[in-house]
Amino acid sequence: MRVDYSPDTLGAGSFYRLLTAVIVPRPIAWVSTLSADGRTANLAPHSFFTVACVDPPIVQFTSVGRKDSLHNVEETREFVVNFTPEPLFEQINATGTDFPREEGEFDVVGIEREPSLRVKPPRVAASPVALECTLHSTLGLGDSTVVFGRVVHAAVSEDVLVDGRPDIRLLRPLARLGGNEWGTMGEVHDLARIPYRDRRHR
Ligand SMILES: Cc1cc2nc3c(=O)[nH]c(=O)nc-3n(C[C@H](O)[C@H](O)[C@H](O)COP(=O)(O)O)c2cc1C
Repeated sequence: MRVDYSPDTLGAGSFYRLLTAVIVPRPIAWVSTLSADGRTANLAPHSFFTVACVDPPIVQFTSVGRKDSLHNVEETREFVVNFTPEPLFEQINATGTDFPREEGEFDVVGIEREPSLRVKPPRVAASPVALECTLHSTLGLGDSTVVFGRVVHAAVSEDVLVDGRPDIRLLRPLARLGGNEWGTMGEVHDLARIPYRDRRHR
């Protein structure tokens, strides 16, 4: 037996809660941006986030509604995706508060920043990975806007590298689940994909 849900009868809010409870775990883009006058450094978590294109490298995040991050990206055409490791849990959550636009989360939450190499918005100093992006395009969808960013530089802390590659056990990424739930990495399994030519000879 299954329980059936229709977005038409459930309504957008409840259907959103259903979607975010089942589309899990979601990685979190901790998006840093600058106001157009360069004075306010904004930082906000976005869990509607993934890779959008391989060549050129493009990532995407979605602003549900029109938030400060989106305004800043539209005005400056730059942003940084900082990754969200477990030890920064409280700080990441604190930047999800709906501060007024003139209050930058770096300052009000007290998050140490460092300069980016290729874009103006700062990076989060304690985040192990930062993807510096220039705006590729935006796509308006209903109440939301998908932001596509061309990754022009990746800065990875050597503390999370093993043999030159980011190691999942050192990255310790947080994930967003349903409601107010957060997840941490569970067990990690390694299993190679099976090429079709190998399947035929089994
Ligand atoms: C873990 C987490 C994930 C979130 N994901 C999103 C998201 O994908 N899209 C979105 O619009 N808001 C998301 N939010 C809410 C925003 O972070 C929140 O509205 C924030 O105040 C926006 O900041 P800004 O106005 O400075 O851009 C998330 C919040 C948390 C705590």
